[in-house]
Amino acid sequence: TKRLAILISGRGSNMQAFIDACSSGVLDAEIALVLSNNPDAGGLARAAEAGIPTACINHRNYDSRETFDAAMVAELSRHDPDLVILAGFMRILTPVFIEPFAGKLLNIHPSLLPKYPGLNTHQRALDAGDSEAGVTVHFVTPELDGGPPIIQARVPVETGDTAATLAARVIVQEHVIYPIAAGWVLQGRLRLTDKGAVLDGQPLPPTGVD
Ligand code: GAR
Repeated sequence: TKRLAILISGRGSNMQAFIDACSSGVLDAEIALVLSNNPDAGGLARAAEAGIPTACINHRNYDSRETFDAAMVAELSRHDPDLVILAGFMRILTPVFIEPFAGKLLNIHPSLLPKYPGLNTHQRALDAGDSEAGVTVHFVTPELDGGPPIIQARVPVETGDTAATLAARVIVQEHVIYPIAAGWVLQGRLRLTDKGAVLDGQPLPPTGVD
């Protein structure tokens, strides 16, 4: 059985999607650790209730991103994950964290990358008058929200949408596509190469699978 580590900062609904996928057998994996930078993350309590080991490394106790990242690498290494899942993890990571997990580190970002890296993605899509929005699962590289995309899901922007109504439409798709992408890595079907993401030997298009 493969081992997942999930990093969260908040409520952890994507984490919950992984808990569900593991317990239903959709993913042949166990969650070895849920790790948060935020002691108040609602997802920590949800994970503990599900009997999953949890840990918190508060970034406020570190004087640089690098020392924080090194502490997280040390904690994760003790749990020997096959794959590390960023699920609403809201800290910028440095190469100190990213390099040890190269090819084994996924993020989900609530926009159709390369549009809207960073924060406030849904409001930015609305402000731009976009007719569709969505979400991208991608490999993490040192470029913020810039690693090779794996899967994108699209949703329509509807008249009267607010950032909140759009986010609610998008998150349903997040919970679908993230476990699928993780499963591909765990099955050895999906790899990060210097030319991008490769699925079943085929390079993925620049926006990933649609
Ligand atoms: C999700 O929408 C995720 O895509 C986003 O935060 C939310 C976390 O929700 N991630 C980012 O914005 C990363 N920069 P969750 O805690 O319920 O999974």
